[in-house]
Parts: sequence; structure tokens; C-alpha cells
Amino acid sequence: MIKTINLTKKFDKIIAVNNLNLEINQGEIFGFLGPNGAGKTTTIKLLTGLLTPTSGDGFIDGYSIRGNPIKVKEVIGYIPDQPYLYPKLTGEEFLQFVAQLYGIENSNPAIIELLETFKLVPYKDNLIESYSHGMCQKLVIASCLLHNPKVIFVDEPMVGLDPKSIRLVKDIFRKNSKRGVTIFMSTHTLDLAQDLCTRMGIINEGRLIALGTMDELRKTTKGEELEDVFLQLTKEVSGLDKSGLKS
Ligand SMILES: Nc1ncnc2c1ncn2[C@@H]1O[C@H](COP(=O)(O)OP(=O)(O)OP(=O)(O)O)[C@@H](O)[C@H]1O
Ligand SMILES: [Mg+2]
Repeated sequence: MIKTINLTKKFDKIIAVNNLNLEINQGEIFGFLGPNGAGKTTTIKLLTGLLTPTSGDGFIDGYSIRGNPIKVKEVIGYIPDQPYLYPKLTGEEFLQFVAQLYGIENSNPAIIELLETFKLVPYKDNLIESYSHGMCQKLVIASCLLHNPKVIFVDEPMVGLDPKSIRLVKDIFRKNSKRGVTIFMSTHTLDLAQDLCTRMGIINEGRLIALGTMDELRKTTKGEELEDVFLQLTKEVSGLDKSGLKS
């Protein structure tokens, strides 16, 4: 479960996240959409404890991101948009390292299972510096699942993945959501959001401008596809009507 109460982050004069109020239930796959610079990554960084809010608060599984940041980190998994991997470790060593960070005992069976799931077994003894972009992305996703997080934050999960890997990751997200894991996903891939998400929020210039299921979002605009809904809503708020966005 994720809850934010008037969550706000200012960088000098920019209000990157402006009084965000969200409530996401256990087991939801929530899609967080919005134009470049809207505040998606900042929101994720606030909720994962990488940034401190200017005001407001967020709660993960009941734990405050301000009051209980360590507890929050125990229950979340985070797949960043620009992951850092240690190039001089092998894939398997990286997973062992992450397991140790979380204090997981007897992690080898789980590591082997994840390497198999992500088709990384043939590369497990190779240095990460030799991995392709997609292989790195799969390793990061595997590492985020090791400690069985209750809430997963994903910033642009599918960039650089081939169609087979996209299907694999979608299946993994669906399987985890059925097990009660909550997934908070920022994405620009509207088809993916439409396909995967139980609910979506659209953020623009730090403010939440729409929230609901696909059907509910459709009702608020004349749009049919998510692309139409997205373009209509973000255009209205930004006053971009004259900019050529009109078809
Ligand atoms: N560390 C920072 N210092 C100053 N401004 C920042 C910082 N991080 C983000 N911002 C600003 O906050 C706003 C929101 O940025 P953010 O990265 O959250 O957007 P985003 O929705 O993730 O965009 P994108 O779709 O391009 O990834 C932008 O105006 C950005 O320039
Ligand atoms: Mg971003």
C-alpha cells in the first residue's frame, strides 16, 4: 500500500512535486504518466528515500518515509531509470552482494531461480561490463525481487528490452501483483500502461491532473485510446493548444 499526503518537493524555484495526494492499494499495478519533467522520477525518489520531501509525507505499507526510512527500504524494491551496476562483478556476484545487503541468509536457491527466470544463467559468470543494455536491465529487475518486496517502484521498466523480455517482465509484474505486491510504475509507453495497469495517474508540472482506471479516464475526456486522453489532459493544463500538438 502506498499513500502520499500533500507530498511536495521544491528545487529552488521549481516545484517538482506539488501537493501530491495518492492512495494505491495492495496488489495494484499503478501507472504514473506525464510529460518530460513532470515530476515522476522525483516522486519515485521521494517514496524510495533518495530525496527528502520539502513538505508533506508518504507512507509505504504504513511506514512513513520521513519517520521510518529504514523500514521503508526493507519493504520496497526499486528499479531506477538509470541503474548503477558494478562492472567488475559478475551477474551472480552482484545478486549475492545485493542479498548480503538485505541480510538474506541462504540466498543461493533464490539467486539461481531468478537467473533462470531472466535467462541469465549462461552469463552469470561474466563480468557485468560485458552485459548488453537489456541484460543489465534484467539483472537489475532480478536484484529488486530478491528480498520479496511488498512494493516495487519502477522508473521506465521496459526501455531497451526486446519484445520477449518485455513479455517476461509484464508476466512477472502480473504474477507479483496477484501475490499482493503493489507496483508503482512510471512510463512513457502508453500501450504498456493501458495493457498492464489497474489504475493510472497523470502528473503535469508537479500536479496530479487525472487519476483513475482506463474507463474512468476515458469518461473525463472524449479520447478513446490512452494516447488521446493523455494528450488532451496535458495539453489543457499546459496551454499547449497552439504548439502543433493538435492533430
Ligand atoms: N536534483 C535536481 N535539482 C534541480 N531540479 C531538479 C532536480 N531533479 C529534478 N529537477 C527538476 O524537477 C522537475 C521534475 O523532474 P523529474 O525528473 O521528476 O521529471 P520526470 O517526470 O521524471 O521526467 P522524464 O519523463 O523526463 O523522466 C524538472 O523540472 C527537473 O528539472
Ligand atoms: Mg524521469
